[in-house]
Formats: sequence, C-alpha cells, structure tokens
Amino acid sequence: MAKASLVVLISGSGSNLQAIIDAIKAGQLDAEISAVISNTAGAKGLDRAAVENIATHVVDHKDYPNREMFDKALIDIIDPLAPDLVVLAGFMRILTEGFIKRYHHRLINIHPSLLPRYKGLHTHRQAIDNADKVHGASVHYVSDELDSGPVILQAEVPVKADDTEQTLAARVLLEEHKIYPKAIELHISGRVAFDGERLQFDGKPLGTPLLLKDDKLLNTNSG
Ligand code: GRF
Repeated sequence: MAKASLVVLISGSGSNLQAIIDAIKAGQLDAEISAVISNTAGAKGLDRAAVENIATHVVDHKDYPNREMFDKALIDIIDPLAPDLVVLAGFMRILTEGFIKRYHHRLINIHPSLLPRYKGLHTHRQAIDNADKVHGASVHYVSDELDSGPVILQAEVPVKADDTEQTLAARVLLEEHKIYPKAIELHISGRVAFDGERLQFDGKPLGTPLLLKDDKLLNTNSG
C-alpha cells in the first residue's frame, strides 16, 4: 500500500512537526509529508522541513483581506496534493467553516490541555492558577469550533508545586511529541476513524479518549 500522505500546517517552532518527521524516519509511521505550510515567514519549522527536503510554502495571513481568502490560498496548495490527513501542528490561525468542512474526517490538531478543559490560549497558566494536579495534551479531529471535535488521544503530566508556566509547558510538550505521531498512526492505519458524529476505535465507539501512558495505549471504554 502507498504511504499515507500528510500536509502539516505550522506557525512557529515546529517541534511537533519534528516529532512526526522523526517517527517517519524511525519507521514508526508509514507516511510521508507532502508539504509544510506556514503562515509565518520566519518559522523555525520551515527550516526543519527544508533540511528533510520537504516542500515548504509560506501563506502569510497578513497578505489576505479576510479569513476566507487566506483559507482559499491554503486550499489551493493542499487540494492538488490530495493528502490523507491535514495536520495542524502549532498552527495559530482560526480556520473557516468552509476549510474545516472540506477536510472533515481528515483534519487533526494538537492542543496543550486535557480537552475539554482549557480551550484557547494560556492553558498551562490556567492549570497552575486552578491548582490542577494533572495537566496534559490532546489530539483531536477538528470540528467547527475552536479546540473542539472528538479527542482521539491524550497524555497526562503531573503539575508540580514549583512549576512555572514554562516548566509545565516543557513537560507537556514532551508528551505532545509522543501522542501526535501515535494519533496519526491510529488514523492512517484505520484503527481510529471519525464518521462526522462519532469516533470509532478498532470498530467500536470511542466515548472517552485513548490515553498514552508509559508508551502504552490505554482504552478505558467498556465493550
Ligand atoms: C504546542 O504546544 C501545540 O500544542 C500548540 O502550539 C505549540 C506548538 O509547538 N498548539 P511546536 O511549534 O510544535 O513546537
């Protein structure tokens, strides 16, 4: 079977992109990255892609009068590549409903919180301010609202008494680098699928997200 093709959208450092590249190189992910698109010209993730000879594109949102036209420019790059999966990896733009519908069922995002807790920005600060004992990261299919859509896979990290936003973010990021390649693998292998309403895992409904703990995939759903 042909390798699954991915298009990865970034805005910044691209450490999650790097984790995906590394998983492919290590043979853990049977996929290839057709293109990396950034809305920021100087994004470090573009250099990470270039080193691997992956095609890169900059689509600067500031060059477009509205979200629709920005998203159309993204679509014009993505559609000819016919990717199996569009991967948002630290892509800091809100996408239009038209974009999301177009790639429905094959559009995923990573978010640094245990969704549905802490949608949006400053998740680490909120976890500390609320004296949470546990924080983490989630990979989810994208639906029409910000940081919504069914969660495929999560990882938890402890919040320590002396944590700052930075130390907690760093601990969460390490887990992000594990769960993103794993969630992509679950999608491209067909083990996880989203029919627009519900998630399925190995042919059974997945109500509660899977958890990656000590490199093991845990499923707490019954049945
Ligand atoms: C990650 O924490 C991701 O969850 C969030 O933005 C950050 C991106 O990091 N959406 P990187 O660009 O992958 O290093």
